[in-house]
Amino acid sequence: MINRLTHIGRALPLRPSMSDRPDWMQANPVRIERALARSLERPTGGWYVLDASYRIQGEKPERFVVEGQELVAWREGAELRVAPAPCPHMGADLSGGCVKEGRLVCPWHGLSLGAEGHGSWRSFTAFDDGVLAWVQLPEAGEEPTDRPILSPRPSGPTLHGVMSMEGACEPQDVVANRLDPWHGVHFHPHSFARLRLLEVDDDVLTLRVSYRVVGPVCIEVDATFHSPDPRTITMTIVDGEGVGSVVETHATPIGPGRSRVIEATIATSDRPGFRFAKLGGGFIRQMIEKRAGRLWVEDTEYAERRYALRMEADRSAKGKRRLEAV
Ligand code: FES
Ligand SMILES: [Fe+2]
Repeated sequence: MINRLTHIGRALPLRPSMSDRPDWMQANPVRIERALARSLERPTGGWYVLDASYRIQGEKPERFVVEGQELVAWREGAELRVAPAPCPHMGADLSGGCVKEGRLVCPWHGLSLGAEGHGSWRSFTAFDDGVLAWVQLPEAGEEPTDRPILSPRPSGPTLHGVMSMEGACEPQDVVANRLDPWHGVHFHPHSFARLRLLEVDDDVLTLRVSYRVVGPVCIEVDATFHSPDPRTITMTIVDGEGVGSVVETHATPIGPGRSRVIEATIATSDRPGFRFAKLGGGFIRQMIEKRAGRLWVEDTEYAERRYALRMEADRSAKGKRRLEAV
């Protein structure tokens, strides 16, 4: 099967694989759990991704739920605003209202709200990084930072798309999924044809991955995976086509046992044709989001399964402790 793959695009230098053991042996659960534990200790600065920056615009405010808090997001000019969704007058859901001249107008009695606030109703600190919209919420034990903790992004011309999907899991289950790239060839055979581990240290995995373009025709790249904060894991292409391109997978907790995966693909290329690809940006964005969505239907299943197993293990451990206590 491997010999029948045809690689197009830039050829990569030969690099030895770190292991030719079967994938199930390389996907070491203890190593994955250790990497996850280190990720969970990193700071977040209190920042949560809401959605693609481009999806918050116009006269229709958007509703989000983060850590059980209902939020509403809108634009005042180019400025991103995020505030509590319940209206300070009688609690109407402000995301059902509209935006007029940058102000949020309540659907029940027309109260017009803006950055100045109303009583105890105040906007939260928000940030638009050009691809993603973020909000900063007070988080126990977290020192707020001025900006979200971002991995390096490509500096030249880029195209991007942002996929968003909800699942019955916690952010750590999403990060754990990406800390196990060995499932790719087996669980997503439509997208990945071959994967080899090139380097590994405590916090960065470097892999050679063959992505399927169509059938046996693949593009091969070297990519690193690392988790810059407990709710993010980033894949960066370091050799082959599109060096510098990144896929940032963010997980935002909605409430107990529910999360939203927001995955930003930011592509770049030094190929002269890439400038023209930008002309078809809308179509390419749709393609990026469709492809990411297809993978995340499967990866959400993986993350939900991991969450269910963890909850079951927790229940058993609690039951055992209760029995030991009597
Ligand atoms: S509930 Fe919003 S103005 Fe009355
Ligand atoms: Fe996957």
